[in-house]
Amino acid sequence: MQYTLIPEISRRCIEPLRGQLLKWVGNKQRFAPEIINHFPSQFGTYFEPFLGSGAILATLVPTRAVGSDIFQPLMEIWQTLHQDPDVLKEWYTQRCHTMMKGDKLAEYERIKASYNTNPNGADLLFLCRACYGGVVRFRQADGYMSTPCGIHMPIAPKSFTRRVDEWYRRTKGTQFLTLDFQEAMTMAKPGDLIYCDPPYLHSQGILYGAQTFDLKRLFKTIEWCKSQQVYVVLSIDGTKRSGDFLCEIPIPGGLFEREVLVNCGRSMLKRFQMGGQTMKSEVVADRLLLTY
Ligand SMILES: C[S@@+](CC[C@H](N)C(=O)[O-])C[C@H]1O[C@@H](n2cnc3c(N)ncnc32)[C@H](O)[C@@H]1O
Repeated sequence: MQYTLIPEISRRCIEPLRGQLLKWVGNKQRFAPEIINHFPSQFGTYFEPFLGSGAILATLVPTRAVGSDIFQPLMEIWQTLHQDPDVLKEWYTQRCHTMMKGDKLAEYERIKASYNTNPNGADLLFLCRACYGGVVRFRQADGYMSTPCGIHMPIAPKSFTRRVDEWYRRTKGTQFLTLDFQEAMTMAKPGDLIYCDPPYLHSQGILYGAQTFDLKRLFKTIEWCKSQQVYVVLSIDGTKRSGDFLCEIPIPGGLFEREVLVNCGRSMLKRFQMGGQTMKSEVVADRLLLTY
């Protein structure tokens, strides 16, 4: 299906990424080209309302885009990248140097305490790169960030600086907003494209600032977008399994026109929960559901 009411056309493009700016559970960097291959070849504004670490956005390098997420400290990082990338470099470099000069664990805990007293982008940026397994976890009750220090050395400030420059270029046309997905998606106009990568059901309650997530509300919003001739692509965990819990996802009939499976390798969250063991059987395939 090709919608015709596009005001200004962007063309699908794939510029594979070499490194991530942020470490984030559910990061789609390795599979971004495969996912983007299923996008329409032309569209208006690109929307990514569950932005996380922005892997799809930065691979697509859209001319015009809206990147949003409900998690405010995360969006502070993106907004700073857009407004003043040097500030982002400074945030990281300063924390990295302090940590390397002193007692690594004590300094990590100091930054974590600073974040927990006042959740903010500057501390979160460093914590997501330095924490154990790159898995930032939050206590459900109050959003307290609980991940211990990682055993790895966080990326050197010089390399991080290069990544900031690269990601600044790739996201130049993007407006970054702190929004609930529904508010972001209802901004779309006919011919625009929305890629949704919501939290995996059940398994991700303690991640991403411990928000709750309502899949039914997402389906209703997708239905509205489809009625407005907005293209929507939805990623869903294709295994339908979270730990020992089988999650049957009640997908409304007639909402999607096509479904494709995308090979997403092994689940990073699983590896963390298993204390670093490799799980050969735990191969995850993402389902992509398309409204066109
Ligand atoms: C699976 S992650 C997205 C990962 C992303 N594709 C990447 O490559 O890093 C899901 C994201 O949805 C966000 N989120 C959760 N509930 C939301 C809501 N109601 N509205 C907008 N974003 C939400 C979380 O903060 C998290 O960053």
